[in-house]
Amino acid sequence: MASITIRQLDEGLKRRLRLRAARNGRSMEDEARTILRHAASLDERIEPGGTPETRAPHTARRGSSATAHALGPAAEHADAARTKRILLIIGGGIAAYKALDLIRRLKERELAVRCILTKAAQEFITPLSAAALSGERAFTDLFDPQTEFDIGHIRLAREADLIVLAPATADLIAKLAGGHADDLASAVLLATDRPVLVAPAMNPRMWEHKATRRNLVQLIADGVAVVGPNSGEMAEASEAGIGRMAEPLEIVAAVLSLIGRAAGEGALAGKRVIVTSGPTHEPIDPVRYIANRSSGKQGHSLAAAAAAAGAEVTLVSGPVHLPDPPGVKIIKVASAQDMLAAVMNALPADVAVFAAAVADWRPAKAQLNKIKKGPGGAPKLALTENPDILATVAHNTKRRPHLVIGFAAETDHIIEHAKAKLARKGCDWILANDVSAESGVMGGDRNTVHLVTAQGVESWPPQSKEDVARGLVARIAETLAGAKR
Ligand code: CTP
Repeated sequence: MASITIRQLDEGLKRRLRLRAARNGRSMEDEARTILRHAASLDERIEPGGTPETRAPHTARRGSSATAHALGPAAEHADAARTKRILLIIGGGIAAYKALDLIRRLKERELAVRCILTKAAQEFITPLSAAALSGERAFTDLFDPQTEFDIGHIRLAREADLIVLAPATADLIAKLAGGHADDLASAVLLATDRPVLVAPAMNPRMWEHKATRRNLVQLIADGVAVVGPNSGEMAEASEAGIGRMAEPLEIVAAVLSLIGRAAGEGALAGKRVIVTSGPTHEPIDPVRYIANRSSGKQGHSLAAAAAAAGAEVTLVSGPVHLPDPPGVKIIKVASAQDMLAAVMNALPADVAVFAAAVADWRPAKAQLNKIKKGPGGAPKLALTENPDILATVAHNTKRRPHLVIGFAAETDHIIEHAKAKLARKGCDWILANDVSAESGVMGGDRNTVHLVTAQGVESWPPQSKEDVARGLVARIAETLAGAKR
């Protein structure tokens, strides 16, 4: 039987395959296999003399189910066995209406969704709408004899691959942290051994309240994943702050990352990845600091893309105004020295990507009190060099990750400087980007990068920072898979 390797494909085809693989969170080999499988299943569905478009209407179902149906009952059974089941617990809050959209988005990704509505949720949406959208009966009552006879709260808890709590009100979070079981939602949460994802939604003051903070710390310690909340306008007039539920697509991204990881799927499943992101703040005195214009968008996108590909990600971030990416462990730091300590603490890892714009220098001695203006004129700031985090990790003989990747922020002679950095810092790859004011990269949404490795330079087209992240993750997955062979 003939065999092909990705290397034999022409460059254009390889690039398209890489982008497709990145979009789907698969390695290039897996993507090629998926395409071949799909093409083969289409062939099997063609009636003699017909085309896929002219097949009988009953086979015109979408995606993998259609394929399985065409392949016969055994394949259909296997396909059903692969379908992941989400148990969505909808809490009582104005964001409950977004849970309806969330059901639709999850179903679009071929996930089976079963809903539980708390009593309070039913003040906002009806079980009928949740049932109509999910295509399954919605559950509401712990002591409903029919529910307990048919399926029971223990089965509800066990039959899910992931339980999602959205919106997670302050009350539901408190119940989960305290181990209560006085209604169907809390009883199911207590009875489950499956991963749980909560999407908090509440008034900013409730979110800030010490009790909520305490409960959240407890949930995180218990291994519960959290997505959001975001900041913005509240439903209550003139209220704004942190407390808006994450958008349905953000919740979907967290769901995909969690179920992929639990099932050991995804191109980076089983891999530990460290990402640094954002600027660092180097204190001059208690109110002033040295910083730079980094927004953290590229580093945060990378962390999100690696998590979506199934990696266990630790994101070490300087001060940014971005929501925490779903499904990653985030360590927030301020200075370069703190960032170095957090990165060393997060080792060992398979891959480390250094996207942070670390300040090269810090004031030699941060003043304890605010520096006052005086007759002597402007103070002279003595600076001292910060540790180079990337170089420290790349040169660490004992705990060096398999792949160490840096960025090079340049304003001139981009490739030349990046090549020198690759050698000086001892990393495997450098992504060089033009950060001159006219490029709009610092703080912007797009990036044009050149991948510099020992093998040469590859210039990628201008694209969003998310696409750069997905492209890099696909390349990392491909390289790690190659290293295994
Ligand atoms: N980096 C780091 N620690 C530092 C400085 C930089 O980890 N103290 C990392 C960055 O995260 C990036 C790479 O090193 O991945 C290159 O950073 P860059 O700012 O482009 O280069 P510098 O080393 O600071 O050199 P220069 O400012 O002279 O260009």
